[in-house]
Amino acid sequence: MFYQVLPISFADSNGDGKGDLPGFLGRIDHLRWLGVDAVWMTPFYPSPFRDLGYDISDFCNVDPVFGTLADFDRALDALHAHGIKLIIDFVPNHTSNEHAWFAESRSSRSNPKHDWYIWADAEADGGPPNNWMSRFGGSAWQWDDTRGQYYYHSFLLEQPDLNWRNPAVRAAMADVLRFWIRRGVDGFRVDAAAVLAKDDLLRDDPPAPDSSGKPPPQRLNHVFTDDRPQAMIYLEEIRAVIDEFDNRMLAGEVQGKIGRIGHFYGNARPRLHLPLNFALLDSAWDALSLQGTIDAYYNAIPDKAWSDWTIGGHDKKRIAGKLGPFQTRVLAMLALTLRGTPFFFAGDELGMEPVLIPDDKVNDPFERLVPGYGLNRDPERTPMRWDGSANGGFTSGEPWLPLGEDVAERNVARLMADPHSLLWLYRRLIELRRRESALSWGAYQPLRSRHDILMYKRVGGECEILVALNTVHQPRKCTWQGAGRLLLSSWLDREECEVEGPMLLRPDEGVIIKLRC
Ligand code: GLC
Repeated sequence: MFYQVLPISFADSNGDGKGDLPGFLGRIDHLRWLGVDAVWMTPFYPSPFRDLGYDISDFCNVDPVFGTLADFDRALDALHAHGIKLIIDFVPNHTSNEHAWFAESRSSRSNPKHDWYIWADAEADGGPPNNWMSRFGGSAWQWDDTRGQYYYHSFLLEQPDLNWRNPAVRAAMADVLRFWIRRGVDGFRVDAAAVLAKDDLLRDDPPAPDSSGKPPPQRLNHVFTDDRPQAMIYLEEIRAVIDEFDNRMLAGEVQGKIGRIGHFYGNARPRLHLPLNFALLDSAWDALSLQGTIDAYYNAIPDKAWSDWTIGGHDKKRIAGKLGPFQTRVLAMLALTLRGTPFFFAGDELGMEPVLIPDDKVNDPFERLVPGYGLNRDPERTPMRWDGSANGGFTSGEPWLPLGEDVAERNVARLMADPHSLLWLYRRLIELRRRESALSWGAYQPLRSRHDILMYKRVGGECEILVALNTVHQPRKCTWQGAGRLLLSSWLDREECEVEGPMLLRPDEGVIIKLRC
């Protein structure tokens, strides 16, 4: 399983209120205890930090807020010493406007990097070249006086898009990948992988159907900027760089409809190993919807592709807020028993819910630029809570975002002391998944879900494991026939006992039953 870490919110070693790499190093024991296989770390590169560090001013260094390259090497060595792999964010689509490449590119129309970014002339009336909109609201084109031209930015105007049509840009970005691989990273999560190519005719995006009530950027159908065929070719080139080395992997943020996810794996030429799948987060929470969501995803990916399931992330609302503490346990059992690599976000193992952010603490540009649509991502980005002390043991200073009201009840030390806690459930599930090869590698075999119970089997070799998850707060009858050995209940109060179906599941209970092996 992958464990996503936001370095700024994980652990602060120097009291500036922001997490850093030495702080992360000091908490690697938690990852070992939990049993994670791999960490995905979001940007720690030099950055003006207008978009959580996704506005990078130097791709091959560490921001002083987080430490130094030597701190990075130490953290990586410590992970590897414990058999934990590390992937980091690769942000190919844009740089910060403070990147030296951009400073050069905007300095004139004839400098050597003049076409490293996407520049275009104004319309006759002086307006932007077309109607393309930034994801963060407003026109995606920003006027630049020195060049007398507009530049394009998919996201903030402080995040100009690189021009991937330019082979020199692609070569420079390939060198960024090689730089980190040679330092020892095991792979990358490709940021905004779907928007690398834009229509070279600069055609206007059409209006999106049924867009009333949606935030302005979603009122256009981004056909000429998202998911272009050429972007797939660029992903193949990125993959080819990864494949120059042994055993490195590429995950990627692909967004969009589930039906498109298959393309990101590639056809004749491979693209991403794991296009990230957010379907569980977007699904309605009932047994019938969930089994539909699961099938729709498995149907959408190529036959030999490996699957993945994401249940949290820095751009997504904490799901514990939607499900509540009891069904959050069922979700943990679901995510760790489906076929495919689970991705968790630090704090999910504590059942962290969205934290209320007072107006004067709002950090996310989304909330500032597209207010009123509930798009603020700060509530899921708040610091980890290590114990019940002031600021949850995260920092001795003023935390960069508030920790939330429930720190005393929901922190690592407290939940570790309670063997029935969600934290322990995670650990036990990870352990079981590793021990039972049918759970790690076996085929997914759907069963007919009835009476609010989501049911499926995992089948590998001679082994057959049944998973039954009660998705409601009342007891429900689970209709399987036969006998088996109950390996684990999500309540963590019964295990390793013989059971027979049909059986009654208690409210919010999930069970894992070994039928054969
Ligand atoms: C990705 C990141 C998101 C960021 C955006 C622009 O979507 O996950 O946090 O705002 O890229 O860099």
